[in-house]
Amino acid sequence: MKGVILISGNGSNLQSLIDSSVEIKLDIACVISNVSSAFGLQRAKQAGIIGHVLDNNQFSSRDEFDLKLSELIDTYSPEIIILAGFMRILTPDFTKKYLGKIINIHPSLLPKFQGLHTHVRALNAKEKKHGVSVHFVTEELDGGPIIAQSVVDILESDDADSLARRVLSEEHKIYPKVVSWYTHGRLKLHNNQASLDNTPI
Ligand code: GAR
Repeated sequence: MKGVILISGNGSNLQSLIDSSVEIKLDIACVISNVSSAFGLQRAKQAGIIGHVLDNNQFSSRDEFDLKLSELIDTYSPEIIILAGFMRILTPDFTKKYLGKIINIHPSLLPKFQGLHTHVRALNAKEKKHGVSVHFVTEELDGGPIIAQSVVDILESDDADSLARRVLSEEHKIYPKVVSWYTHGRLKLHNNQASLDNTPI
């Protein structure tokens, strides 16, 4: 299945998708970054995947940027759009257009800790557990129907970095798995409800 991956930074989730792409039957048509220095672009190049930079600073409004982004995505006619550390809020027009075929990974056990700095916030809140969520993207920021989560215990000795490392390692397992459910036609979104093998999640 043809997919487009959107990134903003390091791209370690992109790497996990590249590494498992044959197994999960994902044909990565291109990688798009809104940040020109994103290391993920080098990962794409190394893997022989086309990389595009669409710098949001070159656009005067969110609408204009999202329109250009959607035009670029559409040139590839992807069946799935994968946000992998793409740190932009998307407009409702954009998310509506791709509803049901756009997914995101977020480093918290949603609905807890939407937005940024999730690890330090989980520590400050004295949570016992933290983790990662993969969800369908809707116009509600980090609020779309959850597809899968992986839980990590918070240790006494944890700081934000150690916790982030353990969560990221879970991200690298869970995201390819979820994408493979999608590429095999097992994962759907219907009436704001995610289902796997026709069973509501
Ligand atoms: C990951 O932890 C991902 O969950 C997070 O950014 C990081 C990107 O790392 N995404 C978000 O916070 C989105 N709200 P990566 O560039 O190494 O894949």
